[in-house]
Amino acid sequence: MPCSPTSERDNWPTVTGAKSATAHELIAAGLERREARWLLEAFAGRDGLEAAVRRRLDGAPLQYVIGHWPFRSLELDVDERALIPRPETEELVGRAIAALAGRTSAPSILDLGCGSGAIGLALLAELGERAVAASLVALDRSPDCLALARTNARKHGLDAVDFVEGSWYEGLDPSLARSFDLIVANPPYVGALEYDELDDVVRREPRTALVAPDADGVAGFADLAAVIGGAPAWLASGGALVVEHGQRQREAARRAALAARLVDVETYDDLAGHPRILVARRP
Ligand SMILES: C[S@@+](CC[C@H](N)C(=O)[O-])C[C@H]1O[C@@H](n2cnc3c(N)ncnc32)[C@H](O)[C@@H]1O
Repeated sequence: MPCSPTSERDNWPTVTGAKSATAHELIAAGLERREARWLLEAFAGRDGLEAAVRRRLDGAPLQYVIGHWPFRSLELDVDERALIPRPETEELVGRAIAALAGRTSAPSILDLGCGSGAIGLALLAELGERAVAASLVALDRSPDCLALARTNARKHGLDAVDFVEGSWYEGLDPSLARSFDLIVANPPYVGALEYDELDDVVRREPRTALVAPDADGVAGFADLAAVIGGAPAWLASGGALVVEHGQRQREAARRAALAARLVDVETYDDLAGHPRILVARRP
C-alpha cells in the first residue's frame, strides 16, 4: 500500500474535512479506490474520517486506521500494539481445526505469540460453533499484545482463555506439561536483512512481532526452532503442533520437527503457493 506524494496530501484540506466526503474526493486526495471505499464505510456516521485519511496518507496501515479487521469468523480490534492478522494465518486456523479432528470433546489449546489473539480466539469461536468446548492459553511476551487480545476475547464473549505473559514455553506453569491437544504459533520469522527490505507500511507493525534471529544457518529461524523444539514437552500424547513459517524455512522446520521426535510431519503451501505451514504430532 503506497504512501501518497506530498502534493496529494496537501490537497486534502481543500477537498473535504466533512463526513460527507465522497470516494472521488478521497481518491483525489491520494487514496486508492478500494481504500477510499473501505474508509468511507468504516467511518460512515461517525467522526474521524479526515484524521483517518491523513493517517493513511502518512503511511499507517489501513487496518490500524480503521481499527478493526476481519479474521476468519471474527472482527478483531487491531492497532499498533500487535501484528495485523494475515490471510495465510487464516489457513493455519483451518489446518489446526483439521488437526484436532478425533481429539477430545474439550480440547486444550496453546497459542504461542498470540498477538491480537487472532489464531486462538478464532479457534475457540469456530470450535464453539461446532459445540466443541475448547479452552485456550494465549501467551505472548508483549503485555501490549495481551491487552489487545483480552479486548478481543471480551468483544467476542470468549471467556475460556488464560492470558499468560512470557517467552515461549518458559511462561507456562509446569503443571501444564504434556497437557495440550494443540499448540498453534505464528512466531516472528523474518530475518534482520529481509526486514530492512520490507515495504514501509509493514514496518509500521511491531518489529518484535516480525523479526527473529537466525538459527541453524537459516535467516529468522530462531523463534521457530524454539517453538518446534519445545513442543514435545507440552503436547499431550497424539497432540498436534501447527506452525506458520517463512517461504524459505520449510526444510528447516521439517528438520526441527524430526529432531524433536515429532511424527506425522506434514507441510502445506498457502493459497499463493508458498511453503507456509507445518503440522506434526507428539507420538
Ligand atoms: C508474527 S506475530 C503473530 C501474532 C498473531 N499470532 C497472529 O498470527 O496474528 C508474533 C508474536 O509473537 C510474539 N513474540 C515474539 N517473541 C516472543 C517470545 N519470545 N515469547 C512469546 N511471544 C513472543 C510477538 O509479540 C507477536 O505478538
